[in-house]
Amino acid sequence: MKKHLVSLLLAAAGTLAAFAADPAKKFTIGMSQCNLGEPWRVQMNADVRKAAAAHPELSVVFKDAQNDTLKQRAQIEEFIAAGVDLLIVSPKEAAPLTPPIAAACKKGIPVIVLDRKVLGSDFTQFIGADNRKIGRSAGDWIVRRLLELPAVKARGRARVVELKGLMTSTPGQDRHSGFRDALKGQPVDVIFDTDMKWLEPEARKEMESALAVHKDIDLVYAHNDPGAHGAYLAAKSAGREKDILFVGIDALQQEGQVYVRQGLLAASFEYPTGGAEAIASALDLLHGQTVPKEITLRSRVFTTANVATGGEWLP
Ligand code: FRU
Repeated sequence: MKKHLVSLLLAAAGTLAAFAADPAKKFTIGMSQCNLGEPWRVQMNADVRKAAAAHPELSVVFKDAQNDTLKQRAQIEEFIAAGVDLLIVSPKEAAPLTPPIAAACKKGIPVIVLDRKVLGSDFTQFIGADNRKIGRSAGDWIVRRLLELPAVKARGRARVVELKGLMTSTPGQDRHSGFRDALKGQPVDVIFDTDMKWLEPEARKEMESALAVHKDIDLVYAHNDPGAHGAYLAAKSAGREKDILFVGIDALQQEGQVYVRQGLLAASFEYPTGGAEAIASALDLLHGQTVPKEITLRSRVFTTANVATGGEWLP
């Protein structure tokens, strides 16, 4: 009996060793991106591609849902039907993308959720920065900056526009609630607040409405840099860009950080893509290791004062 057990264990160990040592073993990862029409998501895919390129056993198939929730659901189902070894999903919205991700898990396909969350816990790992904390830090920074402005000192209160990201996505919800927490008890009024759905043209249009109605606006807080840039362009065409400060989130090196350097944005808060971390986790999972349920990425703030020296880490 004992001998039998030992030989069984030896056989199992042999299989494992053969598996680990099999250099020819290849894995296919399905990457479901909700919208490649935005620079930040182009960067996320580039980060995934670059990290995967260092591992010849990985091949990544990319699908772009073009900002369409139903299309993203269908694309995840296609990946499941094709039998990919692992899925990375950056979902457009929380509720509608929850069922197909749960279905993949049920079929034994590990799913790494990137950046925007889904509901419940039927996924393998979530990777993203803490959006509530980013919203709160942005709010604290904005209050401090506003209280230095001569116009605000003279008026006694500040007037702010908030351009929100899609409120059916978790970063929009968290960047909003964190920001509002920071404003509690402060002499700051949000005089205009609307959902620009993460999109620059939408933000520009909404800002035109805000400018038409409000004579005095001290600052625009947009939930992403395309939103802040759209607001800036609207103010510029109304000849009012010099009277207003603009703050955004993402701080891509080739986008938000450039806007800060050029003085278009007063600050941008970094939102790392998590692409490289997703591939590191994928490798662990594909080699049979377990990973933590959540990885929280750190964020920096880039301001006119610190952009040249690489920004400053949030505490
Ligand atoms: C791109 C984007 C980013 C933002 C992130 C939030 O679609 O809007 O600008 O930081 O999504 O999920």
